[in-house]
Amino acid sequence: MNTAFVSFTAGIEYELSRLEERLLAAVPLDNGTVGERIQDIVRAGGKRLRPSLTFYTGRIFNADLERTIAVAAGLEMLHTATLVHDDLVDNARERRGVPTLNAFFPPGLVILSGDMLFAQAAQLVAEADHVGVVRAFARTLNEICRGELLQAQTKHVLVPIDEYYTRIYGKTGSLFRAAAEAGAMLGEAEPDEVKAMGEYGRLLGMAFQIVDDALDFTSNAERMGKPSGHDLREGVITLPVLLYSAREGNLNGTFRRVVAGTATEEQISATVAAITASGVIDESLEIARDFARQARQSLAALPDSAARQQLIQLTYMAVYRDH
Ligand code: IPE
Ligand code: IPE
Ligand code: MG
Ligand code: MG
Repeated sequence: MNTAFVSFTAGIEYELSRLEERLLAAVPLDNGTVGERIQDIVRAGGKRLRPSLTFYTGRIFNADLERTIAVAAGLEMLHTATLVHDDLVDNARERRGVPTLNAFFPPGLVILSGDMLFAQAAQLVAEADHVGVVRAFARTLNEICRGELLQAQTKHVLVPIDEYYTRIYGKTGSLFRAAAEAGAMLGEAEPDEVKAMGEYGRLLGMAFQIVDDALDFTSNAERMGKPSGHDLREGVITLPVLLYSAREGNLNGTFRRVVAGTATEEQISATVAAITASGVIDESLEIARDFARQARQSLAALPDSAARQQLIQLTYMAVYRDH
């Protein structure tokens, strides 16, 4: 795990170590090399942001530890499953610095592996035996699929910014929302408290995805564990591109070809450079910071505690990161 993220896991080290055990145990090795490659992805870590949200909100509302660990593992497993499918759809070769499943195996095997991880995720969440949490899980899975479908169906399209927000809520905001709600639900929080935690998670997730989309332009392969400038090359039109097109008005033919996916490599590189130099990356980050500010406001009614402080800390980490 990168040192920039160590401090936000303060106080939940035990929970996170139990999470790792649960995750590895849930990825069966009896599928031969496929199982081994999936375990590599799980072992490569990742930031464990979503389970951290569940652990902190669980602590705030005194949720039962064992049930919280099962649900946190289930939600991280859901995240992992979506990444396996997402990397196939996005044609990504690397994840967390290790090769994706689609770098090794044909699509059929990758789809089935992802499906198995979705099933493992559901099983882990069901262990907590909490119908509200299971309902939130089902809703989230639905929302993620819709978000990813919306993205796949609007490739190469300069969509309205509101539609971009709908898409990133589905892809990312929904799972952050569920992760923050789950700890509150397991602690039998009042409905308005669950709602406030969900809002916090949703807004944090929106900020997080916008930063991810900005980093796709500015970060290099080593830091992100995936190649840079990749979204635009794949026809995935994100906030920086939408702001650029809104600002530049009469866009030239090269830009239109890049968006349409008919440009040469030189034209793509030049356009990525032009977008990066235009100031829209900072503008995107400012929008992300605004979502992060709103996320902090959702915590206003909570009494102060170390866990609440960590949730606040997370809103800064999400927007001031480089990977
Ligand atoms: C990657 O999520 C997918 C997005 C929502 C951008 P993370 O950046 O949380 O991935 P890991 O788990 O740390 O690898
Ligand atoms: C992540 O979206 C996929 C899901 C949230 C399901 P991205 O495609 O933007 O994430 P990266 O960039 O591959 O990590
Ligand atoms: Mg992707
Ligand atoms: Mg991305």
